[in-house]
Amino acid sequence: MYQKIKGTYDLLPKDTKKWQALEKTIHNVSKIYNYEEIRTPIFENTELFHRSVGLETDIVSKETYDFVDRGNRKITLRPEGTASVVRSYIENKLYADRLPISKLYYMGPMFRYERPQKGRYRQFAQFGAEAFGSESPLLDAEIISYAVSVIKAFKIKDIEVQLNSIGDQESKTMYKAALVTYLEKDIKTLCSDCQNRFETNPLRILDCKIDKDTELLKNAPKPVDYLNKKSKNHFDKLCAYLDAMKIKYAINKNLVRGLDYYTHTVFEVNANLETLGAQNTICGGGRYNHLVSSLGGPNIPGVGFAFGLERLMLALESVNFKGAPDYLHLFLIVLGEEQKEDGVKLLNRCRLGGLFSDIDFLDKSLKAQFKLADNSNARFIAIYGENEKANHKINVKDKDTGKEITIERDQLYNHIITELMNPSQACQTCKEENCDNCGE
Ligand code: HAM
Repeated sequence: MYQKIKGTYDLLPKDTKKWQALEKTIHNVSKIYNYEEIRTPIFENTELFHRSVGLETDIVSKETYDFVDRGNRKITLRPEGTASVVRSYIENKLYADRLPISKLYYMGPMFRYERPQKGRYRQFAQFGAEAFGSESPLLDAEIISYAVSVIKAFKIKDIEVQLNSIGDQESKTMYKAALVTYLEKDIKTLCSDCQNRFETNPLRILDCKIDKDTELLKNAPKPVDYLNKKSKNHFDKLCAYLDAMKIKYAINKNLVRGLDYYTHTVFEVNANLETLGAQNTICGGGRYNHLVSSLGGPNIPGVGFAFGLERLMLALESVNFKGAPDYLHLFLIVLGEEQKEDGVKLLNRCRLGGLFSDIDFLDKSLKAQFKLADNSNARFIAIYGENEKANHKINVKDKDTGKEITIERDQLYNHIITELMNPSQACQTCKEENCDNCGE
């Protein structure tokens, strides 16, 4: 009997539903941020990964699946998506498209010859996004906000965004020199991997899993202390934009990430959930200002991230994700024939504005309509009956926060949009606004 290859898994029908739901949510959030899907081949010329991810990285030096095809070409199964997307962006001249910023996302299998364990596979799936065309830290902030929104859409709470800047090329060079000088005489006390990295990729010594808690590394110079003015300005502005969006992050001065192409911003999202085990980094990303030009394209900067979808799936086990594939923004309950014309007008307004909305067509009772709203997984339930019509009002219940209010009928659309954009600060436990007690 043949068996699957080590580090791979079969996705059986009982689980594909959940995956479809996961993918659907990702497509929806991507639409909200105005990112368009791109699909590239799962294999590329080996050289592409050497020149982008970097020859000295663990991914390229130890983990790629390489082969020579029958036409004698050196081929590699893609270990990540950024290089392929950049290759396609250049080859198809997407930079000459109608919009100055290209915002792309992708989902699909990646391949790394790693030691398999929970949350770590040899074939795994990533959802990634890449935005090209601006050096502005506003785009870094958007990318981080997009990643956090995906996590929020799944109602995963126990996460931490770790952020750092390694600066532009000039800052990186200055930092590397300072680190090498600092480590030179004691490098022999670190692990053999670190000793190799000292020669090839000294930055990676900083996040060595074995030695990171040694006094030598704790006291080592940090990239943020070597940022030139431009790099510091970029990082400060990014932090200010994240603060403005109330996105929480922790600055991790040791974060450098394992791919060579980064400049300025690097970040990771960790989820502290039992279901994840040791592999708790669900997303990683950063800015790469020179990758497009180094692969033969114009001088266009980029920034992006990638999620490990199996890890996202494992995280979802903690939040009891049922895989309910569909949801509505609004279920409108209309009570009485006389109210139906107004009702259909309100529904139409909401649909034209892009809200996923529905209504009952079978004259069901109030209770039965509430059940319908529940079954459709509607976030807002609005009730429009005789009294509401007389007062030009409408009653709206937010199922996420439990908040119920009566508003002007014509404000229904605006109200829902505002609530969707500015989630209530109400605590999920006690429902109080800005609660400091329950740890929400
Ligand atoms: P990365 O950190 O190598 O970044 O991978 C991103 C995510 O893929 C990880 O945080 C993890 O969740 C998942 N992942 C990586 N290896 C495995 C594995 N063997 N099994 C399961 N999941 C895994 C990149 O790939 C960059 N391309 C991200 C990026 C995009 N940076 C800028 N744009």
